[in-house]
Parts: sequence; C-alpha cells; structure tokens
Amino acid sequence: MKIGIIGTGAIGSILAERFAQAGHQVKVTNTRAMPELEKIAAKLGATAATLHDVVKDVDAIIFSMPFGAYKDLPKDLLKEVPQDVVVMDTSNYYPFRDGEIPELEQITESEYISGILNRPLVKVFNNILEYTLKHHGKTAGAEGRVAISIAGDNPEHKKVVAQLVDLTGFDTVDAGSLAESWRQQPGTPAYCTELNEAELKQALGNAEEGKAPAIRDFIMDNLRKMVSWPTYEEILAGNRLHEMGRGK
Ligand SMILES: NC(=O)c1ccc[n+]([C@@H]2O[C@H](COP(=O)([O-])OP(=O)(O)OC[C@H]3O[C@@H](n4cnc5c(N)ncnc54)[C@H](OP(=O)(O)O)[C@@H]3O)[C@@H](O)[C@H]2O)c1
Repeated sequence: MKIGIIGTGAIGSILAERFAQAGHQVKVTNTRAMPELEKIAAKLGATAATLHDVVKDVDAIIFSMPFGAYKDLPKDLLKEVPQDVVVMDTSNYYPFRDGEIPELEQITESEYISGILNRPLVKVFNNILEYTLKHHGKTAGAEGRVAISIAGDNPEHKKVVAQLVDLTGFDTVDAGSLAESWRQQPGTPAYCTELNEAELKQALGNAEEGKAPAIRDFIMDNLRKMVSWPTYEEILAGNRLHEMGRGK
C-alpha cells in the first residue's frame, strides 16, 4: 500500500516505521523545512513530502497531529483525494492543551475533525499509549495481545484499518460508527488502558455517555500534580483509575 502520514511525532513516527518495515511505501510530512523532514523521513524508512503531496497518489492517509492544529489545515487539502482512499485520525482532545472547543459537547472528537477535513474518516490508534504502541505489540494469536478499537462509518475502510493495526502488533475491536467513537475518547474505560480484545469490547460497552470529560480532567489533573512528568506505568495506572473519577 501507499500510505501518507501527517505528523511524525510520537505516534506518527512509530506508524511510519512499522508500515515501512512491513513493505508499504510511506510518505510523511510535518511542520519542518524539507532538509530536516528528509532526515526524519529517512530514519523512518519513509520519504519526505509536502503537506499537499503527502495526500496525493496514496491508498491511505493518517492524520496524527495535535488536536488544536487541525483547524489550520487548508480547507481543500483532501478535495482531490478519491473517496476510496482510507483516511484515519489518531487525535485526542485535552482542553488544558488544546483550548475549549464548545462543539465537542455535541459531537465526537473525530466527527469534529471530519468536519474540518470535510471527509469521512476512521478513528484509530487514539486509545493506545505511545509506549504501548512501541513496546507491547505481539504477533497475531499471541497470549494477551492488546487490542485497539476502530470507529467509523465505512465497513470496507475499517477492514483495511484492521489489517494495518494487525501489522503494528495489535488486535482490533469494531467500536461502531464515528458518532459512537466517544466510547474510546479520553476518560472512558477503553482509553489507553491496555486491554485484550474481550476486555476492550466490555470496556467500550461500559462507557457512560457524558461522563468521560470529567473523568478525563480528573485523571489529567492528578497526573499533572506529579513532581515529574509521569512514567508510562503511572499514566496507565491513572487511566485505569477511571472509576475514581466518578466518585465511586
Ligand atoms: N502520545 C501518545 O501517547 C498518543 C497516543 C494516542 C493518540 N495520540 C494523539 O495523536 C495525535 C498525535 O500525537 P503525538 O503524541 O504523536 O503528537 P506529537 O508528538 O506532538 O507530534 C505531532 C506531530 O504533528 C505535526 N504537526 C503539527 N501541526 C502540523 C501541521 N499543520 N502540518 C503537518 N504536521 C503537523 C508535528 O510536526 P513537527 O514535528 O514539525 O512539530 C509533529 O510531527 C494527538 O492528537 C494525540 O493526542 C497521542
């Protein structure tokens, strides 16, 4: 496959490297000038592209940028991209970092991004920590393989996404439509809690609509009170304490 990735940060760089290692042709972009981007791309086994070129002549596109940066993307970025190209979004919204966005009281985070991009998309790789993605992948069928949920409205696109997730070392669970993707947003039991397929299905079902933002902020407030930036273990433990955020 030919894959374009926008963002070479924590998540985008791991995905680029994994897909390139698996034999896919990967193009990447970020905000850097071309000489620096070329060096980053070469380390990942990818090629460097401008924002406009990274979405051209590809089978799949992955947006992996800070939530607040999407609104500044060119409105016509995906205008010429054929509808059979699978578009993925890995983003998560944290108001302390991304600012208050009142629309998110009515729609899911990825519906908001879909509106900005004027394009249906698949929400994936948002509910796995960078550390987990980097270190905890296993081969298909391995005991205790961690699962990632996939939300979106196009079943064919979700199949392609599931194959890509498998390449990164994780199982998948279909989390329903993009409108249902609140079940995998920050503050839910399915958010970065490192669960296997059966546990993740259960966690998605256990999510309570409207409760996640308060739990997300509770967890984040606790993590931000720590003297030094929390470790992977502390973040995972914090996410797993979501029940506390409900005052239970
Ligand atoms: N970190 C995690 O554990 C994790 C897990 C799951 C999901 N997520 C979510 O996934 C998204 C990416 O996370 P991350 O941790 O990988 O972020 P990150 O490390 O901050 O990287 C963000 C990347 O986006 C690029 N970028 C920003 N604005 C851009 C623009 N206008 N055009 C092109 N590229 C742009 C940045 O470019 P430069 O390199 O030039 O600055 C950088 O490469 C976020 O929404 C995050 O919430 C993160």
